[in-house]
Amino acid sequence: MSQDLHPLAAAANARLASEAPIILSMLSQRGRALYFPAQGILAQGAEAKSRARFANATIGIATEDGEPMHLPCVQRYFRELPAAEIYDYAPSAGRPELRRAWAAKQRREMPSLGAHPTSLPVVTQALTHGLALVGELFLDPGDEVLTSDLMWENYALLWETRLGARLCTFPLFDARLSGLDLAGLRAALAARHGRKLMVVLNFPNNPSGYTPTPAEAAAIVAALSEAAAAGTRLIAVCDDAYYGMFFDEASEREPLFGKLAQAHPNLLAVKIDGATKEAFVWGLRIGFITYGCAGGTPTVYEALEQKTAGLIRATVSNVSMPGQSIVLRLLQDPAFRDQQGAKIALLRRRAAATMQAARSPEHADCWDVYPFNSGYFMCLRLKGATAEAVRQELLQTHGVGTIALGERQLRVAFSCLSEAQIAEVFARIAQAVRTVRGRQ
Ligand SMILES: Cc1ncc(COP(=O)(O)O)c(C=O)c1O
Repeated sequence: MSQDLHPLAAAANARLASEAPIILSMLSQRGRALYFPAQGILAQGAEAKSRARFANATIGIATEDGEPMHLPCVQRYFRELPAAEIYDYAPSAGRPELRRAWAAKQRREMPSLGAHPTSLPVVTQALTHGLALVGELFLDPGDEVLTSDLMWENYALLWETRLGARLCTFPLFDARLSGLDLAGLRAALAARHGRKLMVVLNFPNNPSGYTPTPAEAAAIVAALSEAAAAGTRLIAVCDDAYYGMFFDEASEREPLFGKLAQAHPNLLAVKIDGATKEAFVWGLRIGFITYGCAGGTPTVYEALEQKTAGLIRATVSNVSMPGQSIVLRLLQDPAFRDQQGAKIALLRRRAAATMQAARSPEHADCWDVYPFNSGYFMCLRLKGATAEAVRQELLQTHGVGTIALGERQLRVAFSCLSEAQIAEVFARIAQAVRTVRGRQ
């Protein structure tokens, strides 16, 4: 290890070396160098908070009458939050109450975890930031990231463009689109046998809107566990952005993290989740990153949390205080689950209408429908027309906005369509496909 490491980084690494040497070996160069400056301004400020009885001249905010100074022209937008929960800085790892409340929510959603310890969730500037953090902590230039071929396009920017890692893909669905291509996943893992590998699992999936069945979920966990047992050091990143948006009874409800977090010592599970899509608060920008590993101990998790918090301190310093306070209160609000359930029910009705319209025999010559049962989106595999040409035609002639992905995939966000619009939207997509096909 480099002699230039900060002593706090060296101490965190030494703790990992003794209790989880495999996790230490998974860290990027930057990940190894990171530490949380627990003995600097933040620690001195925290000490003063509890002990400076006469005057606290440590903190980097301004105060007045015992609360953060603030302006009426800002305050008028906040009615119920106290000033301290709006204007003050949050800790770099996030407000402890919020971290504990989110951890309790995760545990309720993942009964498989049982008593298995995980880290506390560290608060991120929504999921994109969590994905950026996991990349910086674990990816060096040239490292591989294995993801499904149907994926959120930002993965390329996050890990390839910014960090120099290499994205490689496995086919998400079999050629007939009858279900997941588990053999494809197993083959992709086997081809990378014995290496360090980041694998990204995003369910409900963007863009297809698919969540595995319980049998498929078990097979994914088994495939990763076998690869880990055979010597591959896996960082399994679960991008759970659309968790909770389930529209049929056949899909697995428990996030994969519940089982992956205890699968094998060669497998570090990283859960990236947040309030963004689950609680319909996209612009509040509150997400979480959580670690779990077989044999994970409080010491190991503390080292990972500190490195993560150090990276947050070094980039955005800390995450929006009003965002954190609102999400905390949301989690504590007895009305939250009912209100969220009502919105999910609305999306479920739209998904059902989408299912019917997309699969209508009238449109069978225009596309295949990728399996979908969850999330905000669904995806069509167009027949005889390129997705970009159809997208343009839809905009120009039909006033319909869609997203073209790759050669043939057209993504439709039914989350943004009213039930009444859905049949007509698919009729117009079919017309556009036929027009483009006639031209090509
Ligand atoms: C699969 C997936 N992951 C992560 C994100 C990012 O979410 P956030 O807005 O919380 O950064 C998105 C947003 O579109 C997404 O589709």
